[in-house]
Amino acid sequence: MEQPDSPIYRYHDGTKHHFNRFARSLGYLDWATQPRPFRSFAGSPSYPLFPAPDAHADGYTPVAVDYHQLFEPAAARAPLSAGAVGDLLRHSLGLSAWKVFGSSRWSLRVNPSSGNLHPTEAYVVSGPLPGLADDAAVYHYAADGHVLEQRCAFDHREWTRISEGHDLILVALTSIHWREAWKYGERAFRYCQHDLGHAIATVSLAASMLGWRTELLPTWSHQAIATILGLNRDDDFVEAEREEPGCLLVVTAGRVPDGLSSGPDSLRAAIGSGRWSGRASQLSEGHIQWTVIDEVARATEDPGRARPNPSTIHADASPCASLADTASRQTLPARALVLQRRSALAFDARSPIQADAFFAMLARTLAVPASPSACLWWTPRIHFVLFVHRVVDVAPGLYVMGREPGGFERLLRQIRGHDLREPAHGTLPLVCLGRGDCRALARRLSCDQDIASDGCFSLGMIAEFDASLAEYGPSFYRQLFWESGLVGQMLYLEAEAAGVRSTGIGCFYDDPVHEVLGLENHAFQSLYHFTIGVPVEDTRLTTEPGYLWG
Ligand SMILES: Cc1cc2nc3c(=O)[nH]c(=O)nc-3n(C[C@H](O)[C@H](O)[C@H](O)COP(=O)(O)O)c2cc1C
Repeated sequence: MEQPDSPIYRYHDGTKHHFNRFARSLGYLDWATQPRPFRSFAGSPSYPLFPAPDAHADGYTPVAVDYHQLFEPAAARAPLSAGAVGDLLRHSLGLSAWKVFGSSRWSLRVNPSSGNLHPTEAYVVSGPLPGLADDAAVYHYAADGHVLEQRCAFDHREWTRISEGHDLILVALTSIHWREAWKYGERAFRYCQHDLGHAIATVSLAASMLGWRTELLPTWSHQAIATILGLNRDDDFVEAEREEPGCLLVVTAGRVPDGLSSGPDSLRAAIGSGRWSGRASQLSEGHIQWTVIDEVARATEDPGRARPNPSTIHADASPCASLADTASRQTLPARALVLQRRSALAFDARSPIQADAFFAMLARTLAVPASPSACLWWTPRIHFVLFVHRVVDVAPGLYVMGREPGGFERLLRQIRGHDLREPAHGTLPLVCLGRGDCRALARRLSCDQDIASDGCFSLGMIAEFDASLAEYGPSFYRQLFWESGLVGQMLYLEAEAAGVRSTGIGCFYDDPVHEVLGLENHAFQSLYHFTIGVPVEDTRLTTEPGYLWG
């Protein structure tokens, strides 16, 4: 059992926001050291990706898919090609738009990020493909140009052996902590993990557009991931901010070969002795060292672990899951939907949503087989506390929803000071704790942000904390945030699909949230907030496409 005086508990408690004191940060924005949003590896061969006009697409034509179909078993699978990889990256981690205000211009991406700082970098490992390298290779994805930069070419025979002839690639995600720490100081490590969770979901959903499946590979330790991505190659990071290994995903049109999930050593050795190219660009000329971030990163380093049996993890498609697919929901092209996703900057504080839409959004976050949650290897640890403001035929008030029955029961037992336990839906595990106007409470708890009260509802994501860390060890601290980010991404898209909009809220007062529920100690901890409503657009901003070609 992790002890509250361990580095993780020290970090977690030390980076809480309190009513009278925010987590430590610089307190102002030092524009002179603002990190550049894009990394590149100068000196590495680069390959433009579909749908850029200069990309080698090899006849690839995307098959149109409806957003709701992403949550069903795939009807057809696109064969692996450079074109399909380009399509995957464009709709998971690519640029979705540029915003312009006066002389300022900044990009937005398919994956959201706290403060739009984008600490997450992505890599692809693939066998030889027409349009990419002739050999098996490790690539860095440069979202600004939508290109793959070849970091390492290695013996394709090892790739062929380990992939067992299946059409698959590996997608690895890393974090550059400095990008978030520049603005948010010590709390930044949490935001890097949220962002990574959002990115896991965007990759998984873009893979579903191709009929491909995504799985997190828990057997790969952080050291193994660092080796195959070249993160420990000191000479390639002279003066450049280091990257922290995050996770490795297999994205496959077939099945996950045993060799990949059971032992990475031979692939690691083949890549380790490959031909490397490129040097990482520096993002800022000056830095502030936030040593607690380095400490928590070391304390949560993942040693890797055997993948638990998937059948013990995911619930069957329960009656609740079908709520997410009510016939009334209109057809929505999935690719367009992920490109149009945006965070709401303000809500109209007036318009409600229908109860059906509300329940459908919540149902979508449940971990059922054909959902992004299915790429995680653990049972859901995140439950919701909901502040319902404006939902037709649902009384305003405080609610909780469980995403896993055992954990939800334990949460309900821990909640004190609310005697009501009124089921609020026939099949959804949604329980009303109290009726009343929660707008002021929701705003106050979310760092006094109006978006938490002016929408239709907002929520806190409550993680089963102690028990999860005791079960899986300190590295699971990261995974708890990943799950919250992944669930958040589904809320973002569900809101977009329902014609409303949402926003992730990383700034909330931690312990006051726990006090509202009467939660004591660390059995459950709030890790992330979210809000959904009818947006008010900022008409002063103009929008340009993510890339010149569209
Ligand atoms: C982990 C996380 C935390 C966030 N926290 C807040 C927040 O507290 N307040 C807010 O207004 N927006 C918040 N956002 C929204 C980001 O500012 C937004 O994602 C970013 O500016 C990029 O814009 P986009 O989502 O429209 O692509 C958060 C987003 C993420 C992913």
